[in-house]
Amino acid sequence: MQIQENISLRPYNSFGIDVRAARFASFTSEDELATLLADLSPDKYLILGGGSNLLLTGDFNGIVLKNEIKGITELHEDSEYVYIRAGAGENWHQFVLYCIERNWAGIENLSLIPGNVGASPMQNIGAYGVEIDDVFHSLEAWHITDKKKVTFTNSDCAFAYRESVFKNIYKDQFVILNVTYQLRKKPRFHTSYGAIEQELERMGVQELSIKAVSDAVIHIRSSKLPNPAETGNAGSFFKNPSVSKEKYWQLQTLHPSIVGYDNADGSVKLAAGWLIEHCGPQEGISWKGYRQGDAGCHARQALVLVNYGHASGKEIYDLSEQILQSVNDKFGVMLEREVNIIG
Ligand code: FAD
Ligand code: EPU
Repeated sequence: MQIQENISLRPYNSFGIDVRAARFASFTSEDELATLLADLSPDKYLILGGGSNLLLTGDFNGIVLKNEIKGITELHEDSEYVYIRAGAGENWHQFVLYCIERNWAGIENLSLIPGNVGASPMQNIGAYGVEIDDVFHSLEAWHITDKKKVTFTNSDCAFAYRESVFKNIYKDQFVILNVTYQLRKKPRFHTSYGAIEQELERMGVQELSIKAVSDAVIHIRSSKLPNPAETGNAGSFFKNPSVSKEKYWQLQTLHPSIVGYDNADGSVKLAAGWLIEHCGPQEGISWKGYRQGDAGCHARQALVLVNYGHASGKEIYDLSEQILQSVNDKFGVMLEREVNIIG
């Protein structure tokens, strides 16, 4: 809980950006957090989990508070579900594996997403047809200025695609302490999304299990997403944008190979990776695989921006700005960043 000064944040962000924090402290309990905040306020805070969904564009002149609250507790169960509470500082993937070992189903499709439990509701993490919204029961969070604990149910969080109240109306107001998930005792498999079925077949799986789904997801992810331990990145840099059906038809007439998926509300979600791949810094050159100094656009997944070594956050941000502009110029679609920009 000791406050350190002038700390490099390089080990604490998956982009590997080398900036410094004026002050840095970690906390392992609600009490430690309350004590820290009582001594500090008012200040500029950055609540940090695993640092896998942020881009640091410069030195941080406030205090970084790293959430290290651990612990996994089985609260209770009913005929269908088991209710599991996990500390915000638990590593997400380790938590997924812990649940799979116990045959608690619902988060196997979310295997190998980097980061910690506490950030899972922030942007309603999702992959391969499942999102936190589907398994979320409630969370407890500390209100920084009111200095009290508040409970949020699923509807309080207003989950949407890569969105929750914590990313918009309550931005920077709460520290998530723990999350309770409602996991199924009997699995309901989600294998229709992406290449999961194909991968299960390749693996020779005869009898479906949550472990098999998890292994398939891990394999697919590892084959296309860069490992942050080797190449700095924060996953998808942009969200997949939604457009009206009419706009989609217009685009499809001009670009027959464009990729889009129908949303429940009649709009169409476009694959931003396709849009980015199909434009570039100049005619005939694609952003996909493009490198500008040490900042780049990944060669196997155009939606992922990477740091090849010593890129600054500003260089990666500038590249993202150029990509965003060129996609808008060519397709008339404005991308929105998914990654949290911390300046
Ligand atoms: P951080 O990066 O530490 O924080 C993210 C934001 O949440 C920041 O604004 C931070 O202030 C805030 N925050 C973090 N913890 C707390 C807390 N306890 N209380 C309050 N605020 C908090 N995301 C997906 O949804 N799907 C994917 O498939 C996916 N794949 C990825 C693949 C790779 C290779 C990488 C690098 C990232 C990927 N991501 C994906 C993004 C990222 O893993 C998730 O957003 C993850 O939930 C971030 O967790 P974190 O602990 O690292 O959060
Ligand atoms: N595509 C291209 N070129 C590319 C990349 C993708 O044309 O360079 C097209 C392909 O047609 C592909 C389609 O886009 O079929 C979708 O690609 P992919 O399956 O890789 O998924 P995505 O839409 O790029 C989303 C999430 C990921 C999540 C995967 C799997 C967003 C912003 N991203 O990526 O989440 O893991 O689906 O569900 O919704 C993240 O949020 O950080 C993240 C990695």
